[in-house]
Amino acid sequence: MKRMAVIHMLSLSIFFVLLFTFNLTCCEVKKFPLLMPNVYPARPDLYICTPVRIVDDKTFYIVGFEPNATMHVAHHMLLFGCGHPGSNKEIWDCGEMSAADSYSTLKKAPPCRDGNHVLYAWARNAKSLTLPDDVGFQVGKGTGIQYLVLQVHYTKPFPEGQTDNSGLFLMYTEEPQSKLAGVLLLGVGGIIPPKSQTYMETACEIEENKVIHPFAYRTHTHTLGRVVSGYRVTRDETGEDHWSLLGKRDPLTPQMFYPIFDSTPIKYGDRLAARCTMDSSNRNRYTQVGPTNNDEMCNFYIMYYVKNDTPLTRKYCTTVGPPYYRWALDKENDLNNIPDEEASTLD
Ligand code: CU
Ligand code: CU
Repeated sequence: MKRMAVIHMLSLSIFFVLLFTFNLTCCEVKKFPLLMPNVYPARPDLYICTPVRIVDDKTFYIVGFEPNATMHVAHHMLLFGCGHPGSNKEIWDCGEMSAADSYSTLKKAPPCRDGNHVLYAWARNAKSLTLPDDVGFQVGKGTGIQYLVLQVHYTKPFPEGQTDNSGLFLMYTEEPQSKLAGVLLLGVGGIIPPKSQTYMETACEIEENKVIHPFAYRTHTHTLGRVVSGYRVTRDETGEDHWSLLGKRDPLTPQMFYPIFDSTPIKYGDRLAARCTMDSSNRNRYTQVGPTNNDEMCNFYIMYYVKNDTPLTRKYCTTVGPPYYRWALDKENDLNNIPDEEASTLD
């Protein structure tokens, strides 16, 4: 009797130990602070990046983000997933700034050297995105994401001696998630002529046999963007294209992820399209696509999840842009019923 009790106790304790380690190593949702290491923003409009390396023998699922922007000094924060970070320093200057700017004492580099997926965006004065239930970003082993890089935009220089540790708390688990998140970037290259209104357009077909569930979108341009719109284009049996608006906004509003307008699943054979309406009426020079504030960008991000599947292999949907590419000239995607007016007007 006594012996039984001992065995029972023993097995019970083994059970607890197992449960305990299982919880600790596997499926518990943990919190990782990805914060600026007490940085001192010495000049206005400084973008600082800091990286974290993901251990290479494990796969993690990021299931939530908790912004920790102290004292409201951060204008925006972006989280990038990269193959390699832009720099091997603890912090670097990762702004889209004029090349002539020699002010900074920090090394200049882009957030990512390769990879470059925007996983999360936070902007002051805007409500932050929460991932839908059971949705996670897969990072680490078996993914292209070996590093996470946090970018914080500081608008004002700090008083001497004052530092900041704004950043994000990443909620993560090792438990595989049934819905994996991905981001598809619709982007446009090209040149914008002076004193004009220019459309920058892109379109591409989903050529992977997956069903993707879009849930958020983000727009990005520099200074010339007035309207950015994105669409799913489906063709009916009669050959007519139906354009459903996924998102549209003034890109000068905070550049975060916003809820998608239409969450109808996107399937094999559907096409995606985006347009940026650029206004250079006050500019006397040509503007190229590039990373600095003298250049422009035209980006429409679609954040989505797939059920019991891996995200799209395709991460980008890009065209050469103006003056060579236009929706109307796209023979490959053969678009009809182009919503010319709707795509360029804000409601
Ligand atoms: Cu900002
Ligand atoms: Cu840009």
